[in-house]
Amino acid sequence: MVERTFVMVKPDGVERGLVGEILTRFERRGLRIVAGKFLRVSRELAERHYAEHREKPFFEDLVSFITSGPVFAFVLEGEDAIRVVREMMGRTNPRDAAPGTIRGDYALSIEKNLVHGSDSRESAEREIALWFRPEEIVDYRRAVDAWI
Ligand code: TYD
Ligand code: MG
Repeated sequence: MVERTFVMVKPDGVERGLVGEILTRFERRGLRIVAGKFLRVSRELAERHYAEHREKPFFEDLVSFITSGPVFAFVLEGEDAIRVVREMMGRTNPRDAAPGTIRGDYALSIEKNLVHGSDSRESAEREIALWFRPEEIVDYRRAVDAWI
């Protein structure tokens, strides 16, 4: 099942110079980049993006952190892309994340855990629409996709 998922390198990933490294992992796995942008996130966008966490004790810190510096937001496409990206990211708390995952290889802080990825088809649809206009998403296939 070909899916699209929303992914973001958070401000800590940009600060630490890990945008390329994180993108490379997904590209090498075989996922297609179909949209991407570098931006500073407004408070409004951050609050809408993390709306499901509005009542959580960490919500304020989370919004402050996501708006603290620029992020690289992108959309990946591929077979089971949502689950594949979540598995490549590793557990939310990097201290529980397996080595070989992005969080398990590069992070220790639950707040500064480098990367966001949609957790379900519903979230992916909602988040892609929140972050990208339809014309910013490029529909294409690569010759290599037949091999992956
Ligand atoms: P969540 O959606 O549960 O995790 P994930 O990013 O793996 O989908 O939480 C969103 C972000 O909120 C998470 O990446 C980091 C932050 N967070 C905390 O700061 N403290 C916490 O206890 C939790 C659960 C999350
Ligand atoms: Mg989540």
